[in-house]
Amino acid sequence: MNENTIAFIGGGNMARSLIGGLIADRHPAAGLRVAEPDADRREALIADFEVQAFQENATALRGADVVILAVKPDRIAPVVRELAAQIRAQGTLVVSIAAGVRCADIDAWLGGDSPVVRAMPNTPALVQTGATALFANASVDEAQRNLAETILRAVGMVVWLDDEQDMNTVTAISGSGPAYFFLTMEAMQTAGESMGLDARTARLLTLETALGAARMALESADDVGDLKRRVTSPGGTTAAALNELESGDLAALYRRALNAAGRRADELGRELGDQ
Ligand SMILES: NC(=O)c1ccc[n+]([C@@H]2O[C@H](COP(=O)([O-])OP(=O)(O)OC[C@H]3O[C@@H](n4cnc5c(N)ncnc54)[C@H](OP(=O)(O)O)[C@@H]3O)[C@@H](O)[C@H]2O)c1
Repeated sequence: MNENTIAFIGGGNMARSLIGGLIADRHPAAGLRVAEPDADRREALIADFEVQAFQENATALRGADVVILAVKPDRIAPVVRELAAQIRAQGTLVVSIAAGVRCADIDAWLGGDSPVVRAMPNTPALVQTGATALFANASVDEAQRNLAETILRAVGMVVWLDDEQDMNTVTAISGSGPAYFFLTMEAMQTAGESMGLDARTARLLTLETALGAARMALESADDVGDLKRRVTSPGGTTAAALNELESGDLAALYRRALNAAGRRADELGRELGDQ
């Protein structure tokens, strides 16, 4: 890992998080190269992490074992076409973190038969607690899989998919998922305030409860349904609240919501591939 040179195309929020995670994992800063058009952002990356930052994409890519495509999804096609010859000549592994952009489209823009890994991280990666799904095309070898995994693990946990089609479901669960929890937290906080708590207290109790519940579930061997039953005494306060939530058929609502997100992810993938 430590001898690998990693180039980032785009030095925005996600690249910053990955770079911060890699530095925290003791990856040498000299092996991290970033292309970023904005001079202030380049200066900040150099000042904060001592990485090498360049205005030109081709300069950042020079000699890289792996290139992380960290620009917005609609910028991926022109960036890949611009760098295709250099990527092929160097044998560089391409890792795209762009939401929705499919491996086969990236491979076609590269000219075909190139190793491509597609990653779907989520926003908590910005605070190093992301959940990322990875998919590798048939040209990616074992060492390249390990390299891609190590990079994304710098910002949280990683799972591999065997079927790229499942990326749409991943997008519906973990990609868009932080917003569902924000919505729930917002609703709980607002309810707490309406019952008389001040905003700060309602916020703090809501957020710490969310964190505590997630940590308990992660650390437990039991599934979340069992955990829920264990904290729900018959006739108690939790049961009273859950009755209200379940009478609105929350499970069916989530099924509809995730299906809607999955369908939209599929549509976006097709649109991005048609560039
Ligand atoms: N943020 C997340 O939580 C998250 C989660 C999952 C996936 N992703 C994916 O990660 C990617 C990056 O997201 P982000 O939030 O980091 O975006 P961002 O903060 O906007 O970063 C993208 C950076 O790339 C620069 N850029 C634009 N065109 C470029 C080009 N042709 N060559 C080199 N650099 C260029 C942008 O500069 P300008 O601003 O000057 O255009 C910007 O600094 C996206 O594809 C997104 O789908 C992000």
